[in-house]
Amino acid sequence: MARHLITSAIPYINGIKHLGNLVGSQLPADLFARYQRARGNEVLFLCATDEHGTPAELAAAKAGKPVAEYCAEMHEVQAKIAEGFRLSFDHFGRSSSPQNHKLTQHFAGVLAERGLIREVSETQMYSPTDGRYLPDRYIEGTCPNCGFEDARGDQCDNCTKQLDPVELINPRSVISGATDLEMRETKHLYLCQSRMKDQLEQWIDTREGWPVLTTSIAKKWLNDGDGLQDRGITRDLDWGIPVRKGDEDWPGMEGKVFYVWFDAPIEYIACAQEWVDAGKGDDWARWWRTDKGAEDVTYTQFMGKDNVPFHTLSFPATILGSGEPWKLVDYIKSFNYLNYDGGQFSTSRGRGVFMDQALEILPADYWRWWLLSHAPESSDSEFTWENFQSSVNKDLADVLGNFASRVTKFCRSKFGEVVPEGGALGPREEQLIADLAAKIREYEDHMAHAEVRKSATALRAAWVLGNEYLQEAAPWSTFKTDPEAAAAQIRLALNVIRLYAVISQPFIPDASAQLLAALNTVDDSWPDDVPAALSTLPAGHAFTVPEVTFRKITDDEREEWQTRFAGKRD
Ligand code: MF3
Ligand code: ZN
Repeated sequence: MARHLITSAIPYINGIKHLGNLVGSQLPADLFARYQRARGNEVLFLCATDEHGTPAELAAAKAGKPVAEYCAEMHEVQAKIAEGFRLSFDHFGRSSSPQNHKLTQHFAGVLAERGLIREVSETQMYSPTDGRYLPDRYIEGTCPNCGFEDARGDQCDNCTKQLDPVELINPRSVISGATDLEMRETKHLYLCQSRMKDQLEQWIDTREGWPVLTTSIAKKWLNDGDGLQDRGITRDLDWGIPVRKGDEDWPGMEGKVFYVWFDAPIEYIACAQEWVDAGKGDDWARWWRTDKGAEDVTYTQFMGKDNVPFHTLSFPATILGSGEPWKLVDYIKSFNYLNYDGGQFSTSRGRGVFMDQALEILPADYWRWWLLSHAPESSDSEFTWENFQSSVNKDLADVLGNFASRVTKFCRSKFGEVVPEGGALGPREEQLIADLAAKIREYEDHMAHAEVRKSATALRAAWVLGNEYLQEAAPWSTFKTDPEAAAAQIRLALNVIRLYAVISQPFIPDASAQLLAALNTVDDSWPDDVPAALSTLPAGHAFTVPEVTFRKITDDEREEWQTRFAGKRD
């Protein structure tokens, strides 16, 4: 049994995420986790809320709440919505947990001991109007790299370059818009990433089969311009993990906290500790420490492309720099962006569909199917209501749903609600079995490589095989001349429904559970042997006709939703 550690980039605490965020990390990570579990592998699937930094502070201020209270509330909100989408995290943690405080301070202490942290006295933006230092996200301005006018202090959304706020051209305060910013002296800690460049590059060069999107971004930050830069890992904020060297004070660092991007990835590890402390597991070290068994773990991370530099360089610098036997990532799966109806999703303007709203209008499976089958893998992709409507209506209602309903209803009318006996299977039936077996092997191959769209295509093709078979074999005609042969066809077709329920589960878990329940079986074992799997339900096995598995989206609904989500969410 293989062991898979799987993490999704941890969503910022501020606000409910939109569907573009969902498909960029949490949803494909869930698909992969469900698939690995379905194959009988041992899985630890972790995610958390990313609670520190200026976005959290700004959002709490806007909500008029103390930041700790705001985070606790929003964590619950996000956890509930994740459940609504059937995201099967083994634990949904919090980067503000005591476990993460301790571990982050530990890493900083060890890195300092190994001479990889230097103290830098630097000038930083101070805003007299706001009466405070303005770190990263409190400042916006023009990107020195590409000229984009709304670059944030920490990163340019246009060219993805990681920035230092002082590099911005024409900087302004996000709080007040003030431009009378002045430079003041303050001391900060820097992680000496530049000294680890060769080690990092060698590690990246020896990774096999990583997506080009992942390695090209990493290579760019390793080698562009002056090469890999040291990173400031502290900030002048109140909310965050206090700067300490392990459990000792750090002289000169009083009142400062670690930079959110330093502590957030460490939460991947702390989350496993939270999982144990919550009584859900008994050993986190066998997943995370290579001296405690984690050398047999395959670790896969899922994230949007803007997160790649932090996962290929910054976090590995923390891990490698510590010199301790922590598990490093084996495979980084990154995604491009999902656009919304001719533009971008916009959280500030409420443009696009947000996770809570999506679940208000349709069940999770409809969204899961569309999003995953259109995942922005090789390029950005776009959500349009027309495309959503046609995918749902065709793939889910006409192909999968229709197959299940036609077969079960026909059986009920001619043979009753039990699997009929019938005679031997004919050549057309053997052909279907062989075709399904081949398609499922293809599906497994794509799933094993976390090729999301290709997996969806193979799954849909497996569904289509059943429909084509039904069309050609036409048991309703066969029945008139040879009821025995029709019974055999239906026996096979009922087993095909079960097979679909099992293999579709990672994509559409609710529909899959509903179909298995209607078929009155709990056997959801993976079809390693497809012919054998297709005789699981024996003659005489009772079932019920499933309720409508998928309904169609009407043109009226499509138009109504298009207007409703065009932007102006309050
Ligand atoms: N919160 C970040 C984002 O949404 C992702 C953090 S991932 C981690 O872009 F590695 F830092 F945990
Ligand atoms: Zn830029």
